[in-house]
Amino acid sequence: MHPSDKPIALIGAMQEELVAVLACMTGVSCQAVAGRQFWRGHLHGHAVVAVLSGIGKVAAAMTATVLIEKFQVQCMVFTGVAGGLARHVKVGDVVVATELLQHDMDASPLFPKYEVPMLGCARFKSHHAMTALLVQSAQHALPQAQVHAGLIISGDQFVSSAAESQRLQRELPDALAVEMEGAALAQVCRDYGLPLAVVRTLSDRADDEAHTDFTQFVKDVASQYSAAIVSEFLKRLRLVPNITAANPVV
Ligand code: ADE
Repeated sequence: MHPSDKPIALIGAMQEELVAVLACMTGVSCQAVAGRQFWRGHLHGHAVVAVLSGIGKVAAAMTATVLIEKFQVQCMVFTGVAGGLARHVKVGDVVVATELLQHDMDASPLFPKYEVPMLGCARFKSHHAMTALLVQSAQHALPQAQVHAGLIISGDQFVSSAAESQRLQRELPDALAVEMEGAALAQVCRDYGLPLAVVRTLSDRADDEAHTDFTQFVKDVASQYSAAIVSEFLKRLRLVPNITAANPVV
């Protein structure tokens, strides 16, 4: 199969993040693997597989591995929500990852804090051209939202106190947002040499109000934002059909 004939994976962590994307797909069929439902179909002229990863790094890594091994996807786009960390980002802004890091990885003093043992790196880069296209797509699809590009950090923790959020900001001052899956996908995609792009809308400020802001935002806004950005991205991708082949990872 030519790389560009392979499907594109569209991933969300929660139902609310993906439901509007699923609603736009045509010719949909469902296959269950490892307790997850993988929805094959078409969207804006592309073969796609949409799936809920589940929440957290293990669930995300497992989902990514099945997408690669069983569905032979050519690349992955993760869409969902995150908590804002940097001072200049606010609820409703969009953050596209240029790099991803696991903030709960710490094998020190054997390895530097955050470094993934044996890989020799803490930060995983997203695919440059897909990321640039995702930024343009978000700006076009949601002209009212501010779009940022930079570091997203992931860990198996819903950050819901100002004290914890400030600790993360002190330790990783360039981190824009925190979530629970992106860097795990990035590690799997790095191992397989597969292109990845991650876009997150900020549902909360990862502070003492995070849980109420998150619940409301996910219910009211997350799905429409995800669908709007992904639709625009796939439309633009048709104009650059070999984007992943021309900019391989590794
Ligand atoms: N996803 C959305 N908000 C989050 C937060 N505050 N912490 C971790 N993941 C999140």
